[in-house]
Amino acid sequence: MEWDKERRKNKELFLFNRRRFLSLSGVLGLALISGKPDISMASSEKEGQMTFQAKDYNRLIGMEGLSDALLKNHFTLYQGYVTNSNKLMEGLNQLLKEGKTATPEYAELKRRLGWEFNGMRLHEYYFENLGGKGGVQKGGKLFQKLTESFGSYEAWEKDFKATGSMRGIGWAVLYQDVLSGKFINFWINEHEVGHPTGGMPILIMDVFEHAFMIDYGLKRADYIEAFFRNINWTEVEKRLLLHKG
Ligand SMILES: [Fe+2]
Repeated sequence: MEWDKERRKNKELFLFNRRRFLSLSGVLGLALISGKPDISMASSEKEGQMTFQAKDYNRLIGMEGLSDALLKNHFTLYQGYVTNSNKLMEGLNQLLKEGKTATPEYAELKRRLGWEFNGMRLHEYYFENLGGKGGVQKGGKLFQKLTESFGSYEAWEKDFKATGSMRGIGWAVLYQDVLSGKFINFWINEHEVGHPTGGMPILIMDVFEHAFMIDYGLKRADYIEAFFRNINWTEVEKRLLLHKG
């Protein structure tokens, strides 16, 4: 299952990070290439570095349509992305400081950063656009802009739901293009792939299996309906680039 794939990725990274990082020089290039890395991040070097803090989304517990167990599992998964983003940043800074940027270790950590960082931010946007009651405000700015872009609010909703219902796992994201101000629903297959350049995420729906299977099994359509019943439209409206479009 794709959830397992994601967990495996996180576990791999955790194992990758937990070992001694101090010995990054020399032999570790070979260790990495051989699939048996023996590095970890130096935890004593955090001074002066920006670290990301996991946000608390416990206010969502008790939400209709998504069980406490599902949400708590999801929060734990999210916290892993925050932890790993910090570890990667720390490791990359360490390598930069040591002048070891032209190394397989640096390249590998740099490649992983998109997955972990986006995994963190996508979940934050997702949790933050949940916890609301009621539908979009008819006649509001967002309603008006979606109508302009899609012909009607209903057409946008149909397209967004269809995007989130596609076979495979990923994210459905309503993006606003920063240059034109236009709205487009995007399918994001992996956290780090397929995002529009200069896109402002307006509404995000997680359709990885871990986001719904505990409660809904294979009935993703029921999860999507529950998601829509819980959208925090006030928060979503705040993300609009009002100076555009
Ligand atoms: Fe998720």
